[in-house]
Amino acid sequence: MLGYWKYLEKSDPEVYAIIQREEHRQQSMLEMIASENHASPAVLVVAGSCLTNKYAEGLPGKRYYGGCEHIDEVETLAIERCKQLFGCEHANVQPHSGSQANMAVYLSQLEPGDTVVAMSLDHGGHLSHGMKLNFSGKFYHFVHYGVRKDTETIDYDQIAQLTAEHKPKLVVCGGSAYPREIDFPRIADIAHAHGAKVMADIAHISGLVAAGLHSDPVAVCEFVTSTTHKTLRGPRAGTVMCKKEFAKAINSAVFPGLQGGPLCHVIAAKAVAFAEAMTPEFKSYAEQIIRNCRMLCEELLKKGFRLVTGGSDNHLLLVDLRSYNADLTGVMAETWLHDAGIVVNKNLIPFDPRPSSECSGIRIGTPAVTTRGLKEVHMKLIADWIDLTLKSGGDDKIVSMVRNETAELARSYPLPG
Ligand SMILES: Cc1ncc(COP(=O)(O)O)c(C=O)c1O
Repeated sequence: MLGYWKYLEKSDPEVYAIIQREEHRQQSMLEMIASENHASPAVLVVAGSCLTNKYAEGLPGKRYYGGCEHIDEVETLAIERCKQLFGCEHANVQPHSGSQANMAVYLSQLEPGDTVVAMSLDHGGHLSHGMKLNFSGKFYHFVHYGVRKDTETIDYDQIAQLTAEHKPKLVVCGGSAYPREIDFPRIADIAHAHGAKVMADIAHISGLVAAGLHSDPVAVCEFVTSTTHKTLRGPRAGTVMCKKEFAKAINSAVFPGLQGGPLCHVIAAKAVAFAEAMTPEFKSYAEQIIRNCRMLCEELLKKGFRLVTGGSDNHLLLVDLRSYNADLTGVMAETWLHDAGIVVNKNLIPFDPRPSSECSGIRIGTPAVTTRGLKEVHMKLIADWIDLTLKSGGDDKIVSMVRNETAELARSYPLPG
């Protein structure tokens, strides 16, 4: 690989320099966007391999192109590892992304205009769960549930009521900004009682599910989709799992339904990540993600921040900034923390009075900093730095002092490889 970089430096110094700058950014800042992670050198090298050169429309053993013998080997390995990791009956590892994994389920089960019940985006759902401007919201009739006002946890009674009233074909669960454990069996019971199937989108939590640290949807839901690059720590992509009876429908929804040639290099990198996720080291890593998140919650609560639901069961937490400082928006917090070396994102909180361009909250995740080796003691420091930065109102002196501290910590815990 070193040879490749030397080659790139000569052949395209402009792109080379951009990648160097991005690498420096990742090395020197604390990445706390809940949906991001640092993939292993093995994943990176495979994702950058010559497998990108190959067209392989179809499935192992049934391709539309010649010369697929090694792609067949690696895709079969990825499928088998995915099945072993999650204990699912069938897996299609070709979706280019989490959205396309979801799209495959919709395409295989729904006709345009069919009704789906899913969690709303502003309560922690995802664009591909029926947001108006997304393909899902344009093609299907989504009815949304949310969280309860008093507990800010999923309103399971509302799911039951909407499912009884609208008789959806599909109930979707899983989200992008939900800090608590999801009760998949309860949702499956509700859906099945009304003749609906269930799709659990575990994009965020799949690493925790794989490690046995979160309620497992595979046995109770017909379909389980995921990204492979968040807590699972693989390449940027998706995967879809289902019961055997839906295997054919899912396969043909992915290809030729919505994709052309698969990204063979990324499929191979998924195979690597699935194997990594089966190791005892990965289980310890996933446990540490959760311990770090809990410690960060505790420390932020001590400093007077309000957390949505009061805390977290998983890898992310949502800070409601309003009680800390009524004038502080998510945008302001994101900007100041970025300048201080802590990368988070502004986020709507449930029932947010502010528009999504401003937000009253920030979402913070521990998967990426845990990958570089940070532990509970560092979460205390990070909570101090968040407090100092936000209390200062983005004061240049304070921000640059914190920036020095975060850079120092980042230097002491370099990225893998
Ligand atoms: C719950 C959920 N589903 C699906 C996706 C979509 O993944 P992608 O960005 O790979 O399309 C995301 C991404 O953040 C997500 O959080």
